[in-house]
Amino acid sequence: MKKRYLVTSALPYANGPLHIGHLAGAYLPADIYVRYLRLMGKDVVFVCGSDEHGAAITVRARKEGVTPREIVDTYHAIIRDTFQKIGIEFDIYHRTSEALHHETSQDFFRELLKNGQFEEKESDQYYDETAGQFLADRYIIGTCPVCSNPDAYGDQCERCGSTLSPTQLINPRSTLSGAAPVMRPTTHWYLKLNEHEAWLREWINTGTAGGQTLHDPADWKNHVIGQCNSWLEQGLQPRAMTRDLDWGVDVPAEIPHSAGKKLYVWLDAPIGYISATKQWAADKGVAWEPYWKSDDTALVHFIGKDNIVFHCLIFPAILKAHGDFILPVNVPANQFMNLEGNKLSTSKNWAVWVHEYVAELPGREDELRYNMIKNMPEQRDSEFTWKGFQESTNTELVNNLAGFVHRVMVLTHKNYGGIVPAVDQSREFRSGWDAEQTGTYDQELHQLHLKLSEMGREIEHFNFREALRILMEISSAGNALLQFNEPWKIVKDDPELVKVVLNLGLQYVAVLSVASRPFMPFAAARLRTLLNLPALQDRQEWLDLLNDLAEGNPVLRPNHALNPAEHLFGRIPDELIEAQVAKLQAAAAAKAAAATAPAEPVAPRFEALKEEIQYDDFAQLDIRTGTILEASKVEKADKLLKLTVDLGFEQRTIVSGIAQHYAPEAVVGRQVLVLANLAPRKMRGIESQGMILMAEDAEGRLSFVSPAEGWPNGWGVK
Ligand code: MF3
Ligand code: ZN
Repeated sequence: MKKRYLVTSALPYANGPLHIGHLAGAYLPADIYVRYLRLMGKDVVFVCGSDEHGAAITVRARKEGVTPREIVDTYHAIIRDTFQKIGIEFDIYHRTSEALHHETSQDFFRELLKNGQFEEKESDQYYDETAGQFLADRYIIGTCPVCSNPDAYGDQCERCGSTLSPTQLINPRSTLSGAAPVMRPTTHWYLKLNEHEAWLREWINTGTAGGQTLHDPADWKNHVIGQCNSWLEQGLQPRAMTRDLDWGVDVPAEIPHSAGKKLYVWLDAPIGYISATKQWAADKGVAWEPYWKSDDTALVHFIGKDNIVFHCLIFPAILKAHGDFILPVNVPANQFMNLEGNKLSTSKNWAVWVHEYVAELPGREDELRYNMIKNMPEQRDSEFTWKGFQESTNTELVNNLAGFVHRVMVLTHKNYGGIVPAVDQSREFRSGWDAEQTGTYDQELHQLHLKLSEMGREIEHFNFREALRILMEISSAGNALLQFNEPWKIVKDDPELVKVVLNLGLQYVAVLSVASRPFMPFAAARLRTLLNLPALQDRQEWLDLLNDLAEGNPVLRPNHALNPAEHLFGRIPDELIEAQVAKLQAAAAAKAAAATAPAEPVAPRFEALKEEIQYDDFAQLDIRTGTILEASKVEKADKLLKLTVDLGFEQRTIVSGIAQHYAPEAVVGRQVLVLANLAPRKMRGIESQGMILMAEDAEGRLSFVSPAEGWPNGWGVK
């Protein structure tokens, strides 16, 4: 093991709350790993923060009609709070909108530029003339060239899943204004990733870079190496590290052509790990550099599989291109967690939101953590079901773990007044690990030592499911110890045996109070209280325990007084599960209905009738049939068309406010009704000699009113 650890979890986009898939992917595994390292007495810093730039943020802001700033402030607070409640304990939870981060990212950019890592290239990109800005891929929609979906995005078609580029879309339009975008030249800085391909290939596959062996590729997950190699096989291309955007980190102002340019979000976001470390170090009054620039440090990135290319190829290339930085020793990416038979989906609202979980099931944080770890998508996709959650809680946490702890505690209180009994260590009994075996006190402590070190090894290799399984094995063995020796039956006949069994049972509980902390920190704290042991302070208590057990020293000494017994976990009733499943279904159904239902039909509100008139009033209107002969736009008047209308007996010039409804060429030849005795009126310098009658509906749409086909012109309407 290394002496110093820097552990990162993917910075969540501050554009929405966290769901259980995020938790299982990048945060819980990191939290387990870090808690373990702390208990091993390692120097470890765990950094994370909000990713507050990129289209994810601005798209959401537009949708909600608020500023990006409001979006990130809202979700940063919600996410930070959620992590804290579910027991994910970062040393710092930073933000990429902080000034320190902007400076750090800009320094990186300058350094890369200085090192000749960029290629400045002009290219044509889509520009929205109405909105006055270049369009990020997500801001362009059009018809998918593969499946003809009319609403495909510039980077991807969500119907057929094709990866697209904006220029492949048929009839592209801007989501900002609806206008058809035009091509405009723009200059960007491209990282020459192609020049990094060779060493990246070697590093990924052999763990060697610059002649130095940095890690053993056998320690990396197969699916991570596999994904990297499939990118490498396609060949790495120069990749633009800047964008034309108005939200993000500015390209440093002193650089020519930088006006209006921002850093690509996938350049600035991972640098967020560095800014976060800097801020943490500044707050603590220590140096940040050893965590990023020393070979004694193990840098570990916890992420979901959609982030692999950025953390295993692009960010390492950036770190290497900069020059001073170490490379990650591992990137133990997880696969995805599904939910009740379907993919987790924010857009379909098919999710269990963690902030809702902690609000609706307060005090049950560890039950969720336990189920997530048990089903962690370490090697392949996995699934969360509420039924499975109920089962893992009720059978494993309540029956096995809490049941064991409760029985030992209650029996010790009943028989020895809650005092750890002194034992005759030579006394043999039936081992909890094997019904056929007799055990001795030392052997049993030795077995606990083995299990605890096995757990540690699994955690060090990112096998958290397996480590959790061993934790529960210790509890099962504790239960078996009681079951095989039945202390409740023999108190009178063989009190020495009862003392050994209960004393050992309590040692098991003491081991659990340490070993459970990385997985279930809240339950671990309750166990410490039950046992009347000091709260864990992350001062190498795991290491001390290992050493004690190796030397055959019990953790709880005879005469140590316990606190009263209490239940560690409570059962999850059926109603709770049913309510959650119903809620999930209802939320998704509501979302689907909102997405597909035609807008609620609104009862039309007709205009109030005008005041009554006499026939003579009407008879004063001279309405004639006519045909439009010519039509043209009126300069600087976007609503007006200038028409020449044939009334049969004469031609009239009429200016009509229909330009936003009809193109000039579409009205030529139409037969219309004309109010022919309206006093002439000048509009935009043109004398209008009458008025075209139009029907208008509630939405302001206009329609010509015409007589039957072939009707002669110049005749009246009565
Ligand atoms: N915000 C990204 C996501 O949710 C992850 C960013 S990780 C970082 O997919 F390295 F860029 F910070
Ligand atoms: Zn498609």
